[in-house]
This record gives sequence, structure tokens and C-alpha cells, in this order.
Amino acid sequence: MKDQLDKLRLNALELIGGLDDEKSLFDVRTRVLGRKGELTGFLRGLKDLPPKTRAEIGQLANLIKSELEQKIDEKQATIREKAEERKIGSEFLDVTLPGRRSIPGRTHILNRVTDELIQVFNGLGFQLAEGPEVELDYYNFEALNIPRDHPARDMQDTFYLSDNVVLRTHTSPVQIRTMELQKPPLRVICPGKVYRRDADITHSPMFMQIEGLWVDQGISLSDLKGVLTAFVQEYFGEKLGLRFRPSFFPFTEPSAEVDIQCVICGGEGCRTCSSTGWLEILGAGMVDPALYRFVDYDPEIYSGFAFGMGIERVAMLKYGIPDIRAFYENDVRFLNQF
Ligand code: DAH
Repeated sequence: MKDQLDKLRLNALELIGGLDDEKSLFDVRTRVLGRKGELTGFLRGLKDLPPKTRAEIGQLANLIKSELEQKIDEKQATIREKAEERKIGSEFLDVTLPGRRSIPGRTHILNRVTDELIQVFNGLGFQLAEGPEVELDYYNFEALNIPRDHPARDMQDTFYLSDNVVLRTHTSPVQIRTMELQKPPLRVICPGKVYRRDADITHSPMFMQIEGLWVDQGISLSDLKGVLTAFVQEYFGEKLGLRFRPSFFPFTEPSAEVDIQCVICGGEGCRTCSSTGWLEILGAGMVDPALYRFVDYDPEIYSGFAFGMGIERVAMLKYGIPDIRAFYENDVRFLNQF
């Protein structure tokens, strides 16, 4: 019987030694030590032996049982350790890699320039006024002295929503809306989106303008010149010269297009200013008295000036942006620069 036990022990030890997975180890444990296992069966059979042999063999069998239990436990620990090592090895984490950076949102460059412009004009006493982008033909054209079927309408290629409703082609209708609501003195700045049926390298079907209007007693062209000069010096930060060229707008008389000395070359002549030394930045003029009829102002008492500026144009000049389309493409590499 001792031999039988020894054989069983050696067999089991050999089996355990050769294993390297938990499942097989579990099977061996069941087969040897389980309820119906070989050693368990052996121990159960002891009761039929004479007492002396029973004690002796029983002691031996119990020793073997503990030994095997211990070996199996050790083996299990080894197998688990190895599995853990393998797992750590395969889940290699390179802590020296750069982290994934999330890009925080920021104000769009056009909104930033708009805010900057509002601030400069606030400093000159202008208050913010706004109007709708979907506008009545009346405010966009009619009350700005651009009658239906008048050739002046050709200046602005328009999106019509219906006969009487358009996407506003400029911020000038806010002049009329503001004058309808307020009596002079009136000094407002009106930024916003405008729309024209127009698209190429320098034109977008949607762009932004900022409108200025100052109406009071005794306002003259020199006030317009003073305000624009103060604005240019404050915003572009240099003593840049201004130039007024005679022009025509149906809602101003006289009208002018205003140039500033080139912000790139300072007036020397370069590619940006086509070697002229000057850059056009806005349209302006004295409010045509015809407009006062629409808003019940007395043109004998009041006078005023107005101007309209393209915000993209200002941003392009201030930040040296060569292509208007960059504003609308939402390329974060571009937007993050500002
Ligand atoms: N509304 C004009 C345009 O979009 C720009 C303009 C010109 C606005 C003269 C004015 C102005 O207020 O006085 O072309």
C-alpha cells in the first residue's frame, strides 16, 4: 500500500510540475484531492484496514495530502504571477508620450475684431445698435433713398426671400431703424452680418459690416473726418494718414470713399496696396436729407454723417490675412493664431 501511495504521490507531483495553466491545475486538484479523487478514495478505503496499519498508512496518506495541497497552491501562485507579468508586458504604457491636448474654444477672429471696433467707437461716444439680418425691402433700400427699379439697386446683388423681404445687403438699414426709434442727438455703431449674391477670392455671400451714424445739430464733414481719424489712430495704432475720395451712395450727400495709408508699407507702396500707398477701408458721407423724410427728422435742424466698414477688410489689414475665405473655413490652425 505504501508503494501505491508513493506512486500516486510521484505521479501527482510530476503532473503538477509540468502544468502551466490554472484550468489543468484545477483538474488535477479534482482528480487527486477532490471528493471522488484518487487520494480521497484511498483515505476512504483505510477504514477496512487493521487498526495498526490504518494508523500508519493513514498518517502517511495525510502527509502526502498536505504536501500535494501545498504544491498545488504554490503552482497556482506561480501561474498567476506569470499571467500577471504577461499582462503587464502586453499592456505597455509609454509614460513619456506627449498627452492628448484638447483645444480650448476661443472667440472667432471676426467677433474679436467686432468687439475691438465697438470698444474704440464706444470710447468716441457711440452706442451699440442692432437690426435684423432678414430685413424688409423698405429698410434695406426704400428708406435709404434706393427706390424700386432704380439703377442704384444694381450696386448690391441681393438675396430676395419674397418681393418685400431680403437678406440685408448692408448694415445701413439699422440707421433707419434707429432713427425711427430715437430722436437726435443720436450716435450709434451697428455691427452685423450682411449678405450678397457674390462669391470670389475677395467676396463672400455672407460677410460683416459695421455702420456708424451720428446725427445732431451742426454735425459737419469735419466731424466725420475727426471721428474717422481718431478711430484709425486708435485702432491701427499709428499716425496713419486718411484720404477722402468723392464717391456716390444714394443715402449720403456728399459721399466719399475713405482710404488709409497702407498699414503694411506706411505709404511707400507695396503689394498689399498695389503700389499706391493707400488702402480703401470704408464708405461714408453726410446723411442725405431725403432719409430724414422717412423718419420724421427736420433737415433744417439736424444734420449727420454715416459710414460703413467691412469688418473682414479691417481684420485682414490689422492681422495681415491674405484671403477672405480663411475666416469661414473653420480651420483651427488658422483660428488658433488669434
Ligand atoms: N452701405 C454701404 C455699402 O454696403 C456702405 C456705406 C457707404 C455705408 C456710405 C454708409 C455710408 O453708412 O455713409 O456699400
